Amino acid sequence: MKKFLIAGNWKMNKSIAEAKLFADQLKGERIAHPEQLAVIAPFTQLETLKRELDGTGIKVGAQNVHFEKSGAYTGEISVPMLKELDIDLCIVGHSERREYFAETDSTVNMKLKALLNAGITPILCVGESLEIRETGNAMLFVSGQITEDLDGLTPAEVEQIVIAYEPIWAIGTGKTATPDQAEEMCGFIRGMIEGMYGRETAEGMIIQYGGSMKPSNADELLKKPDINGGLIGGASLEVGTFMEIAKAAF
Ligand code: G3P
Repeated sequence: MKKFLIAGNWKMNKSIAEAKLFADQLKGERIAHPEQLAVIAPFTQLETLKRELDGTGIKVGAQNVHFEKSGAYTGEISVPMLKELDIDLCIVGHSERREYFAETDSTVNMKLKALLNAGITPILCVGESLEIRETGNAMLFVSGQITEDLDGLTPAEVEQIVIAYEPIWAIGTGKTATPDQAEEMCGFIRGMIEGMYGRETAEGMIIQYGGSMKPSNADELLKKPDINGGLIGGASLEVGTFMEIAKAAF
C-alpha cells in the first residue's frame, strides 16, 4: 500500500465543543484507511480530539511547536507538552507562521530535530510566493528551503518527515495549482531528496500538496505519482468535504 496522508489543518478555527462534534461525525464515517487520515487542530482542542478519536487510528496533530524543552518563551508550547498528550504529528514552517510569526529556515530546522527526537512526525511546509513563481524561480526557492530546513538530518530522520508543498499563492485563495504544476514541484522535491539522501529515503517519503485542495480537484491531484496526499485548510473544516477528499485518496 502506497504511503499516504490526508491531513486537515483547521488553523485558528473551532471550539472544543465543535471539535468534539467533528470527531463524533468522523467516527460515523466508513474510512478505508483511518491511519492515513489526520486532523491538525488548535492546542486547546488536542486533548479532546485525542480522547474522542482514541482507538480509531485517525491521527491528531498540532500546528506549531517550540524547539526548546522548556523556558521563558511566553505563549509557546513545547515538544514535551505535545508528547504528554500523545500527539502524532506537528506542522512546522507553515507559510502563515513564516509570514506572520518570524518562522525561519533555522527555527524550522531546530523544530524538526526536536520533534524527531521525541518521535512526533513533522509535516514540513515549503512553497513559493506568486512573485517568485511568476519570475520562474519557484524551484530555486523551494530547493533553498529544503536544503536549509533539513540541514544536519540523517536519511532515516528525513524519511520520517512529511513534506507539504504549499504554494503560497494557492493557500486560501481558491486558486489551486494545476495538477501538473503540483506534480512538477512534488517530483522536483522528491528528486532533491533522492540526490541528498538516496533513492530509498526519497521513495519512502510522503509528499503532500496543499493549497485550495477541494473535492472538485482532489481526484486529479491525488492521482499524480509524486503526490502522496493533501494538507487541506478550508475544505477540512466540515466532515463532508473532508471525507470527499479522503475518499478520492483511498
Ligand atoms: O495547511 C493547509 C493550508 O495552508 C491550505 O489551506 O484553505 O487553501 O486549503 P486551503
